[in-house]
Parts: sequence; C-alpha cells; structure tokens
Amino acid sequence: QAEIDRYKARIKALLKEKDACLVAHYYTDAIVQEIAEETGGCISDSLEMARFGTIRPEQTLVVAGVKFMGETAKILNPEKRILMPTLEATCSLDIGCPIEEFSAFCDQHPDHEVVVYANTSAAVKARADWVVTSSIALKVAEHLEEQGKKIIWAPDKHLGEYVQKQTGIEMLMWDGSCIVHEEFKAKGILELKSVYPDAAVLVHPESPDAVVQIADAVGSTTQLIKAAAELPNETFIVATDRGIFYKMQQAAPGKTFIEAPTGGSGATCRSCAHCPWMAMNGLQNIVSALETGEGEVLVDEALITDARRPLQRMLDFSA
Ligand code: 13P
Ligand code: SF4
Repeated sequence: QAEIDRYKARIKALLKEKDACLVAHYYTDAIVQEIAEETGGCISDSLEMARFGTIRPEQTLVVAGVKFMGETAKILNPEKRILMPTLEATCSLDIGCPIEEFSAFCDQHPDHEVVVYANTSAAVKARADWVVTSSIALKVAEHLEEQGKKIIWAPDKHLGEYVQKQTGIEMLMWDGSCIVHEEFKAKGILELKSVYPDAAVLVHPESPDAVVQIADAVGSTTQLIKAAAELPNETFIVATDRGIFYKMQQAAPGKTFIEAPTGGSGATCRSCAHCPWMAMNGLQNIVSALETGEGEVLVDEALITDARRPLQRMLDFSA
C-alpha cells in the first residue's frame, strides 16, 4: 500500500506539472480508475472517452486504455500531446481488420455506407463514413436505414449480428471479434443462473448471439452500469470485462456482481473476462509516460484529416 500511495502522489504531482489529465476505460484495473477519479480525470466508455479529450483544457491527455483510444484522442485533438502508459496495448478487433483487405472489401461495394466500430486503426477510420461505439450502434444503423443507405459493418460480427437482429437491417459484415467477449458461454451462464435464480444477466453486445439471447440487459459499458443501478435485482451475472466491477459497485452499492463463466480456465483461457491489453495499464507506466514523454501517440497527418470526419460525425450524432 505504501508503494501504491507513492505512485499515486507522484502521478498527481506530474499531472499538475505537465498540464495533463488522465482518461481511463472501465476495463482498466481498479487502481488505474481510482487515480483517474482522484485527479478529476475521466473513467468512461469509448464514446465518452473520445468526447472528454475534446472538452478538457489540458494540453496533454494520458489515455489509459488501448491503442485505438489513444489514436482517437489524437485524431480529435491533433494539437494536444497524447500519451499512453504503453503503446503495446492493442485490440483483437483492430488486429483483425487490416486496412489493405478492408479497403479492398469496401471498394467491391461502392454503393454501401462504411460504418466502423471505434475499435479500429486510424487508417480504417479514415476509410469509413461513420465511426460508432456500442452505445450508439443501433441508433446509427437505424438512422442510415431511414435514409435508404446500404451498410458495410466492421469489424465486430457479434455487435453487427446484434444490430441486425434488433433492427431487422441487413448489413454486409466483416468477420472480427473480441477475444474477451467471445469466451462467454450461454450454457455456463444458465448453469450459474440456476444457482442464483434471481440474478439478472448483463451482456455487452460484443458477446456471441447465444449469450445476448439470455440477457436481461444488453448495452455498452456505461449502459450496463446504469442497468446495474436501475434494475431491482440484487445480484448480477456480468458478461463483460471484470474491470467494470469497480464502477458497478459504486453505482449500485450493496449489490452482488458475478463474472459470467468463460469457455476455458487456467492455461486454456485466453482472456478469462479480462482484456490482456487493458491490463497492461498500471500506475508505474503512467508515471513513466508522464516523466519521460515516451508512449506518445502519433498519427499521420493525412490520416488525421480523413479519420476526423467520421469521428466528429459520431460525436455530433450522439451530442
Ligand atoms: P464500450 O466501453 O464503448 O462499451 O466498449 C467496450 C470496448 O470494447 C472497449 O474495449
Ligand atoms: Fe478489444 Fe475486447 Fe480488449 Fe475491448 S475488451 S480492447 S474489444 S480485445
């Protein structure tokens, strides 16, 4: 604890000294969210993390999350310095959607509107007409349908399937997935429900359809935290990264949160309800990024111009 307190004190001093603020995703470790909270920073979902950077006066943003979040911050705030505790933290959805193949796919369907999830590279965003996050995915798809547009949806096939089922809109889909959410299994959740029959099941739409089907609430991280507070249940089985428990417990004190079972265990489990890339963010590398300036996110200027358009559209649409 003494060491943690030392790191925290150092981060607080450095943030002041460097005119910086900290923005963290709900999936980072509790200690990272705690320091973001204590320093007046932001803990949020992907959408509000993106917006937060644009409304803060500080010239440096420290983004505790994964690469696409740092890139989004840079694209929306090119004049600011964006630091990340590590530049190694990526995302399986980003990896699974390389720009050359994706661009060729889009070229084959020039009459389609290209909608990409925020969990993509700057280059993929630059090829897109829209960027969405899970909190506005349904609304954007409905909006495009009303305008009579055909849609390419990338890269998350599970989120895409969820949107298709909810809205009845047919979309051309990329075959990507999140290694964390893909592990949740409906069978295990139903078995757990038989032990806790009054528990409500909270599911992020990056999960497979069979898991979404048995959910009491489906939504982005922010929407799931809200559901935990608003639903009358005292117990919840949660099918998303366990980092979210930190805020869920704050939002719904006294309630019980249980991790949804995943497909594997021990060495056979690739993610076990915690994103290995989100877990790379810690107090030590936050200190080091602020002290050394290493971990600065740089994005090609031409990409910034092209990727900013669909990102700004996302912020305006959800304002
Ligand atoms: P949201 O926080 O936008 O729901 O997204 C979850 C996610 O995949 C972040 O990696
Ligand atoms: Fe990507 Fe999944 Fe990790 Fe989110 S939890 S950053 S979608 S791998």
